[in-house]
Amino acid sequence: MSEFERIALALLLALFYGAFCWYCFSRRRITARVTLSQADVVVAYASQSGRAHALAEKACEAFAGRASLCALNQLTPSALQQSKTLLIVASTYGEGEAPDNGALFEKRLIRQTPDLSLNDSQFAVVALGDSYYSGFCAFGRRVYSALQQSEARALADCIELDASKPEQELEALTQLKALIKTLGGRFDIDTAEASVVPDRYWATLQRRQKLNDGSPGAPLYSLTINTSDTVNYSAGDIAEVYPLHDTALCKQQLVALGLTEDATLELDGQAVSAWRWLASRQWPLPEKPASLSAEQWLKHLPEEAPRQYTIANAYTPNRLQLVVRQLRNTNGELGVASGWLTERADVGDKLELAIRDNQEFHTPPAEQPLVLIGNGSGIAGLRAHWQQRDNTGGEACWVLYGERDADTDRPFADELAQLQTKGVIQELDCVYSRSGEYSEYVQQRLLRRGDLLKSWLERNACIYVCGSRVGMGQGVHEALLELLGEPALDELQAAGRYRRDVY
Ligand SMILES: Cc1cc2nc3c(=O)[nH]c(=O)nc-3n(C[C@H](O)[C@H](O)[C@H](O)COP(=O)(O)OP(=O)(O)OC[C@H]3O[C@@H](n4cnc5c(N)ncnc54)[C@H](O)[C@@H]3O)c2cc1C
Ligand SMILES: Cc1cc2nc3c(=O)[nH]c(=O)nc-3n(C[C@H](O)[C@H](O)[C@H](O)COP(=O)(O)O)c2cc1C
Repeated sequence: MSEFERIALALLLALFYGAFCWYCFSRRRITARVTLSQADVVVAYASQSGRAHALAEKACEAFAGRASLCALNQLTPSALQQSKTLLIVASTYGEGEAPDNGALFEKRLIRQTPDLSLNDSQFAVVALGDSYYSGFCAFGRRVYSALQQSEARALADCIELDASKPEQELEALTQLKALIKTLGGRFDIDTAEASVVPDRYWATLQRRQKLNDGSPGAPLYSLTINTSDTVNYSAGDIAEVYPLHDTALCKQQLVALGLTEDATLELDGQAVSAWRWLASRQWPLPEKPASLSAEQWLKHLPEEAPRQYTIANAYTPNRLQLVVRQLRNTNGELGVASGWLTERADVGDKLELAIRDNQEFHTPPAEQPLVLIGNGSGIAGLRAHWQQRDNTGGEACWVLYGERDADTDRPFADELAQLQTKGVIQELDCVYSRSGEYSEYVQQRLLRRGDLLKSWLERNACIYVCGSRVGMGQGVHEALLELLGEPALDELQAAGRYRRDVY
């Protein structure tokens, strides 16, 4: 390299470094926030899988340094009384329940201090939900009426976003924009929309491996998916996969409609394969009105809802892994997404997915030991975190994992053994519910290991739970209540040291 080239390269590097520093500085300026007591507006979120949190962040940024962001659980009755303008963004989970980081708020405000007076405050609630579930936006609505009962002044009706109706979500964001404007903020609908409906990417199924040959339980698979450079994620994030229904059924349907199996549809000026389009729509299909042509009818069919899968590895460029349980309904039919991913899709097939940034379940700071508890396909979330600890170093993990059969249900056994040798995993409890006299559930093992758990918590450990909500999730919660008592568990939850990705 000539002297001139060396100088040019050095200048170029200096320029890049300067631009990078400016970028970091300006991001810091944008995200720097005032404390709760200084803020004109308090934006609080209750979010289980990240959507409400992402939207609340956008709403907070709209006030350009005048607003403060916190989890709803952090709003104690006294913090509430200090907050003169409150904007609450709350999703609903379980069966009409509060997300974990809003459950304490509900307990304190609705059950423990029903007489709290907030007559000096004004508020608005943005409720996220999905009309697919029966208690649509139930938690957001409860928060709204509890604040009204506390005599706070409602700035608007409860703004509701329905995940099953994208056009309705856009309308709700427009209402939110108007509300924020009346409070002196500037809200950008496009970035807000991107925060609730993340970008979709094309990916390729690269490998599928069964993890539990001979198991008495339903088949469990590890999937490796090749992604493009732009796909970014962290341990704890969720992949939203857009499923395809059975190709053969779709082709039969096209023929029944008088079309050929390889017919195409004209959509936004592009020719799209009609069977693939039909495979991505919601089934069972509605009756076709006689007034519509086959093409017109096909174009108006709503899209099948994406299914969520916790990413099963720490970030790896151009790749992600999932652990998928193959489900069948009571008629023996395969689940739409799990059946497609584990059986109907071929290795090499294209699939469409989005990444949901799930800050509620990201790996805690390295100095906090990590107690990872889960069952079945929940090993996905546990694995992402133990790999992350292996990559970045930090305090050790304790893995407590439950499955059915000790001989056949040993997913990632080699990886676990290797990381135990390395010291990344300091304690490993694998328990099995169908192993004769040794049968045990994770919650039972946790109770037996109560003293060890307390000693880990004294060292500032976090508890992360991943897997089935009913059964394991509830059982572990009850075991923790028994071991630690309700006030201590509430404190752990409020401090973000007890987090769950349960479904
Ligand atoms: C946060 C999270 C993480 C998960 N992680 C994993 C994982 O790592 N591994 C794993 O095997 N499973 C995981 N699941 C479960 C997974 O998302 C699917 O529910 C499961 O695979 C069954 O889907 P299916 O399409 O095969 O079954 P189906 O019976 O066809 O669908 C069942 C589920 O799809 C959803 N659904 C169906 N229709 C609609 C609709 N119109 N609108 C909204 N939702 C609809 C509902 O959640 C329903 O319970 C997770 C779920 C959640 C919420
Ligand atoms: C397991 C599960 C249970 C849910 N239960 C409800 C419900 O009872 N009522 C509702 O309106 N939405 C329900 N939803 C939909 C969520 O509220 C919706 O997807 C929301 O956008 C999630 O926001 P979050 O990522 O902030 O948690 C449920 C979603 C899941 C995955």
